Amino acid sequence: MKTIDELLAEGVSGKRVFVRADLNVPLDGTTITDDGRIRAVEPTIRKLAEAGARVVVASHLGRPKGAPDPAFSLAPAAARLGELLGAEVAFASDTVGADAAATVAGLDAGQVAVLENLRFNAGETSKDDAERGAFADQLAGLADVYVGDGFGAVHRKHASVFDLPARLPHYAGLLIATEVGVLRKLTDDVARPYAVVLGGAKVSDKLGVIDHLLERADRILIGGGMAYTFLKAQGHEVGISLLQEDQVPVVTEYLQRAKDKGVEFVLPVDVLVSPEFPDLKGKTPAHPTTVAADGIPADQEGLDIGPETAKLYASKLADAATVFWNGPMGVFEHPDFAGGTKAVAQALLDSPAFTVVGGGDSAAAVRILGFDENAFGHISTGGGASLEYLEGKTLPGLAALEN
Ligand code: 3PG
Repeated sequence: MKTIDELLAEGVSGKRVFVRADLNVPLDGTTITDDGRIRAVEPTIRKLAEAGARVVVASHLGRPKGAPDPAFSLAPAAARLGELLGAEVAFASDTVGADAAATVAGLDAGQVAVLENLRFNAGETSKDDAERGAFADQLAGLADVYVGDGFGAVHRKHASVFDLPARLPHYAGLLIATEVGVLRKLTDDVARPYAVVLGGAKVSDKLGVIDHLLERADRILIGGGMAYTFLKAQGHEVGISLLQEDQVPVVTEYLQRAKDKGVEFVLPVDVLVSPEFPDLKGKTPAHPTTVAADGIPADQEGLDIGPETAKLYASKLADAATVFWNGPMGVFEHPDFAGGTKAVAQALLDSPAFTVVGGGDSAAAVRILGFDENAFGHISTGGGASLEYLEGKTLPGLAALEN
């Protein structure tokens, strides 16, 4: 994979450099609630601009349906990027239309523009190679060079991630180089004990990675909504908690495999329950009750790991040499159910291990809950991407940069 350093050595002054970033940040209306992904790609953009490139930044935001939708505009992200750079950032109100062409043509050496959301164009995410290719051709018309730095999207076979680099000289940006370097530490020659904490709502999103980790990790700790499918597989009733009944057989098989292989599989021993999902907007008190994991009442929903589980998980992380964490332990957006996620974040900080926080949700949780992100070994900007990397899959966006 050629890196941006090689590009800079070749010289970029006056060249139009297309930076595929991941500016997919959480928004409340037009307010960015966590700008971590913008800060993560800013050094690449700054470096290119300082070297005199005409920098064209492109990204997706959310999942619009292949047509313009103001709710998913990248305008707030472009404004934030300008603040971080301390420079004016031009914004094109379309991606490959007349405004994009004029905006790029108007860039002087060292100036930066952001194009409107790539996914406002059906070609970006199309399953049809020709349709994606046609859109990639249009994008290629806006640039001389491609820099891939949207790590959060490298697992997507999308036009700007996969097809465009084949059409231009291409290089990996600083963020992708860092992310891949860290993930290699988790896959090649990992320092042991290697503990993995997995949370989040759906177990079905994590099956591939669990399957893979059963061959590699020493300990797997489970929290979040997905834990209830595991508790059900152990024969416990889970009340009205999130449950993927159809996944119970595969999860049962995983628990057996863990036993056979001597992988420690750790499930919650207590949980916080409530009769209803909490109000996240008003954040009115929810009055949760702590119950044993095998005693969830029929009319209650598990919404966080309990205090005994938090202690247990902290002890399982205390002597680990490597920890990877993906997915919150509960509904951390509500203060009554943030305790488990906070406890795991704190346990990572207290552990001498090399700690990696993988992913959009857990990374945002760490920052929203007020932890110092620099205190962790690495906070990945890619949730799905880091999980698929750990699964051993070929990621289209990385493969494209390697070719
Ligand atoms: C993410 O948030 O994980 C990335 O930005 C990719 O977004 P996507 O899941 O909508 O492709």
